Amino acid sequence: MSASVKIEVRECSESAESCVIRDLQPDIVNVWVRTLQVPSAIESTCYEVLTSEERERAGRYRVGRPRNDFILTRGTLRSLLARYVGMTPQELSLRYSEYGKPILDGPFDLRFNVSHTDGLALIAIVRAREIGIDVEKIHAAQDARKLAERFFSVRECHFLEGLSGEELQVAFFRCWTRKEAYVKARGEGLSLPLHQFDVSVAPNEFRALLATRPDPSEAGRWILQDLPVSHGYVAALAVAETTDDKRAQNATLTRVE
Ligand SMILES: CC(C)(COP(=O)(O)OP(=O)(O)OC[C@H]1O[C@@H](n2cnc3c(N)ncnc32)[C@H](O)[C@@H]1OP(=O)(O)O)[C@@H](O)C(=O)NCCC(=O)NCCS
Repeated sequence: MSASVKIEVRECSESAESCVIRDLQPDIVNVWVRTLQVPSAIESTCYEVLTSEERERAGRYRVGRPRNDFILTRGTLRSLLARYVGMTPQELSLRYSEYGKPILDGPFDLRFNVSHTDGLALIAIVRAREIGIDVEKIHAAQDARKLAERFFSVRECHFLEGLSGEELQVAFFRCWTRKEAYVKARGEGLSLPLHQFDVSVAPNEFRALLATRPDPSEAGRWILQDLPVSHGYVAALAVAETTDDKRAQNATLTRVE
């Protein structure tokens, strides 16, 4: 059986203008990986394409990393989206859903989602599908079990029970990014209770959304899988299947150099 979705992961290491953008077919997800340690010239280019509202928002962050991360991520997002729709970054209009999810305004079927963490940003772009992405830097969370009890479902906590040390840390962040990616794809923020769905914590899953409540059929509507990112990070992507999709045994994941 053929895969329903092809996920292409690409680096955006220089300015977004130098990234090669190919026609985006409905069954393809483009994931752009942007390192956030870049020469100041790239940061200036990103700042230039921000709207006055976005510059104001950047100004509200304390000077330093959160501010730079926002500028680089939002500037890269604008420049990339503009290339996909054939406009200038400044012409693009973004609006926000009720729960704060940024959406491309206008007659476009492009959907996107963004995640940034210590040193790395990911931007996922697709046509006409709900999409969510999350990346986290793995660190020694002393309170991983307590956090799991607070945020994870009973089944997820059970999966973590037998683990310890580094294995526990990695499984914890794998679970966290998978849950976040799904929540972000749904776009409902904290109004979607985290205990109402279970994800797998095992590696190499492509249907990592195991169960949804109260509607069990919701789980089968999603591809939820990890993305290959730099050592020390974990990342996950949630993308909705459409009724046109052939039921897939796996999604194709390609790292495009
Ligand atoms: C609000 C939320 C998107 C913040 O995510 P985060 O991990 O702190 O940060 P990320 O870098 O991954 O994502 C932030 C980006 O997501 C996008 N975003 C904002 N609100 C969003 C929403 N409701 N849905 C989807 N994406 C959203 C924005 O592009 C934002 O970046 P920007 O502000 O620079 O444009 C999201 O995490 C959330 O609602 N979480 C609630 C669920 C929770 O508590 N999970 C605990 C772990 S299981």
